[in-house]
Amino acid sequence: MTAQLNPRGDVAVLVPAAGAGVRLGPGAPKALRLLGGEPLLVHAVRRIAAAPSVHTVVVAAPAADVEAVRAMLAPVAPVTVVPGGAERQASVAAALAAVPAGPDIVLVHDAARALTPPELVESVAAAVRAGHDAVIPVLPVVDTVKEVDAGERVLGTVDRAALRAVQTPQGFRRSVLTAAHEAAGDALTDDAGLVEKLGVPVDCVPGSELALKITRPFDLALAEHLLASGA
Ligand code: C5P
Repeated sequence: MTAQLNPRGDVAVLVPAAGAGVRLGPGAPKALRLLGGEPLLVHAVRRIAAAPSVHTVVVAAPAADVEAVRAMLAPVAPVTVVPGGAERQASVAAALAAVPAGPDIVLVHDAARALTPPELVESVAAAVRAGHDAVIPVLPVVDTVKEVDAGERVLGTVDRAALRAVQTPQGFRRSVLTAAHEAAGDALTDDAGLVEKLGVPVDCVPGSELALKITRPFDLALAEHLLASGA
């Protein structure tokens, strides 16, 4: 059944899904790899659309696959599909440019985090609504982390208690994300990094283990298991 988005919602979700996914091994672009028989992107969009505050979803697809992605997502939810760029940042900028007037909160969410629960979308959006300009979901780092040199010799041990692993969706007041992308120089791996460069404070909310990023074959196997267990 096609999900309905909320016409009175205040949240637009941008989904960069134009990456090749080289680390998953050869095959289709990562967002189109199958999990439980459906593309990762379908899982991700279905969960985003189930979040009650979501007004708009814009997907940045591989340029060659825009029509196929539109057809694939039409039965899932009413989404806008635009061609992505060569870098993740360019894909996010293309999706941001397609957000209609209205939503004041913009979330950026990787298609690769296909099992992210709708509750995490809502909690990030709620923190922005409550007055934070930029919000990221995080988990504590469980491993000990070392800094090494080019020869793999340990330079030192980082204080784990002060580290966080960062997930998506990352949430922003719309004007802040727009300003960050206009000012963007070097490509960064996340949008909060662009906002930090503007000097805007970025705040954390608890992340979710289900929001794992499906990057390597092991992650896909884990996600298959989680999906089969009801995630
Ligand atoms: O490559 P990485 O795993 O960091 O990609 C994170 C997300 O950014 C993925 O959902 C991927 O599809 C997306 N991406 C994109 N456009 C690119 C590169 C990556 O939309 N040119």
